Amino acid sequence: MSYFEEDFEKVRRRDEERRRKRRKDEDAFEIVEEVFDRPTLMALYDLINDGIIDRMFGVVATGKEARVYWAKNSRGDDLAVKIFLKETSDFRRSIIKYIDGDPRFARMRRDIRHIIKIWCSKEFKNLKEAFAAGVRVPEPIAFRENILVMKFIGDDGVPAPLIREVPPGDPEEAFGTVLEYIKRAVLKAKIVHADLSEYNIMNWNEELYIIDWGSAVHITHPQALEFLRRDISNIVNFFRKLGIETPSVEDIYKRLIREIP
Ligand SMILES: Nc1ncnc2c1ncn2[C@@H]1O[C@H](COP(=O)(O)OP(=O)(O)O)[C@@H](O)[C@H]1O
Ligand SMILES: [Mg+2]
Repeated sequence: MSYFEEDFEKVRRRDEERRRKRRKDEDAFEIVEEVFDRPTLMALYDLINDGIIDRMFGVVATGKEARVYWAKNSRGDDLAVKIFLKETSDFRRSIIKYIDGDPRFARMRRDIRHIIKIWCSKEFKNLKEAFAAGVRVPEPIAFRENILVMKFIGDDGVPAPLIREVPPGDPEEAFGTVLEYIKRAVLKAKIVHADLSEYNIMNWNEELYIIDWGSAVHITHPQALEFLRRDISNIVNFFRKLGIETPSVEDIYKRLIREIP
């Protein structure tokens, strides 16, 4: 049984059990709840039925807001499946068990889910636009609810390292490449990444991939230029630490925004 099938089976059995006992027994199913909740399982199931995902493997990264899984489609291509988590904080985790299953709070659960779905669709859209503008990003494939499917960057289920772990062999050239990607995003896709740093750039055999586009904003966003300056500053600081000389943040920033029509 695949990872996914196992979980699905657990949830199915849980429902059966619930019907039989006609009462809730939360503790026994805590582990399944921890992994995927029902709407997430349903969304995964849809993605499988639609032929987008064939098999799910293990988790490759666990962050504050999302978990990333390695998966494959039926052609055997590697996929990255980013699942946005609903219970992102200990606090929410601790309160959720008091509102979960209480019909008076069903609405609140739906609202949280809806916000996460919007966030997920936003990352998908940003990835599409960046990709179309010629920025090297994992090609987005599909999204459903809180699940984003994209190309897997790495080999045999092992994600490529971040540049903070494996810095580019030619920092000078890599710096130019990242600046070019920032420029294409701003001038062609009209978006600012807004969370750009050495933590969101992967180094796959010296090809740099910009990931994690959930926070990106349109250049008309009131804080877009502030975010752009911060992105540039993060990149300049990182590459300077690698020993290269760069123009000042201010120079790069000004030169770029002069080009915005
Ligand atoms: N397309 C991908 N292919 C392979 N690994 C990925 C991919 N996207 C993300 N990852 C892995 O998951 C980690 C977290 O992804 P990211 O999009 O940065 O989410 P977060 O919001 O948790 O920072 C990355 O650092 C990387 O190791
Ligand atoms: Mg990240």
